[in-house]
Amino acid sequence: MPRLTIAIDGPAGSGKSSVARRVAAMLGYLYLDSGAMYRALALKALRHQVALEGESRLEALAKETHIELKPPRPEQEAAGAKNCVFLDGTDVTEEIRTPEVAQAASRLATTAGVRRVLVTEQQRAGAGGGVVMEGRDIGTVVFPGAELKIFLDASPEERAERRWKEHQEKGEKMTLAEVFDEVIERDRRDRERKVSPLVRAADAVLVDNTAMGIEETARLIVMLAQDREKELAKTARREA
Ligand code: CDP
Ligand code: CDP
Repeated sequence: MPRLTIAIDGPAGSGKSSVARRVAAMLGYLYLDSGAMYRALALKALRHQVALEGESRLEALAKETHIELKPPRPEQEAAGAKNCVFLDGTDVTEEIRTPEVAQAASRLATTAGVRRVLVTEQQRAGAGGGVVMEGRDIGTVVFPGAELKIFLDASPEERAERRWKEHQEKGEKMTLAEVFDEVIERDRRDRERKVSPLVRAADAVLVDNTAMGIEETARLIVMLAQDREKELAKTARREA
C-alpha cells in the first residue's frame, strides 16, 4: 500500500495532537506536531527576552535554533506527551505546554520569516510520506499536496474545557473562564493573521469531534486514510 501524507489542522484544543498521535500509531506512520516547534521557539524568545514581534531578529533566532521532535519515552507518554521536543539539544517537552508559551507561540507565528524557517524544517521532517502532521497550515502551506487533509474542530466551550482539565491535572490554578479567553484570543490571532492563517483547505474533510472521543475520531480518520490508500494503489496499478 502507498504511504500517505496526512495533514490535520484545526483550532486550539480541537484534539489534533491526541487524534493525530493515535492515527499514526494505528497506521504505523510517523507523528509530527508542528505547533511544538512554534512553542519551542517561543520559549527560547521568552528566555532570551527577544521581542515577539519584529521580522529580522525573530527570523535570525529561528535560523540559529535547532528544534527536534522525537517519539516520547514511555513515562513521558504516560504523562500525556505526544512528541518529545528538544530545543538546542535540551528536552523542553513539559516547559512548552504553559498558556504563556502558547500565547507567545501564536504571536511569533505571525512573522513570515519565522514561518519560512519552520515550514522548511517541517517539509524536511515529513518528506517521503507515511506521516501524520498536525498544526494550522499543514494542508494549506506545508503539504498542500497531502493525500488526506482533515480540518478538526469542536465547539469553543468544549475545546476550552478540554484544555482546562489538562491544566487542572497538572495542578495549574487557572479558571475555566481564563482558559476560555486564552483559547479564543489565540484562535482569533491564528485565523486573522496575514501569513498562513488557520483556514480549512478547500479539499479538507471537516470533522467536528465536539461529541466524539479520541478513539472514535481516530478510527474515522483511519478509515478515510485506508480508503485513500486503496484508491491510490488502484490508480498506480492502472497506470503500470
Ligand atoms: O492538539 P490540540 O490542541 O488540538 O488538542 P489536544 O491537545 O489533542 O487535546 C486537548 C485535550 O482534549 C486533551 O486532554 C485530550 O485528551 C482531550 N480530547 C478529548 O477529550 N476528546 C477528543 N475527542 C479530543 C481530545
Ligand atoms: O495545542 P494547541 O492547539 O493549543 O497549539 P499548538 O498546535 O501547540 O500551536 C501553538 C501555536 O503555534 C498556535 O496557536 C499557532 O499560533 C502556532 N502554530 C502555527 O502558526 N502553525 C502551525 N502549523 C502550528 C502552530
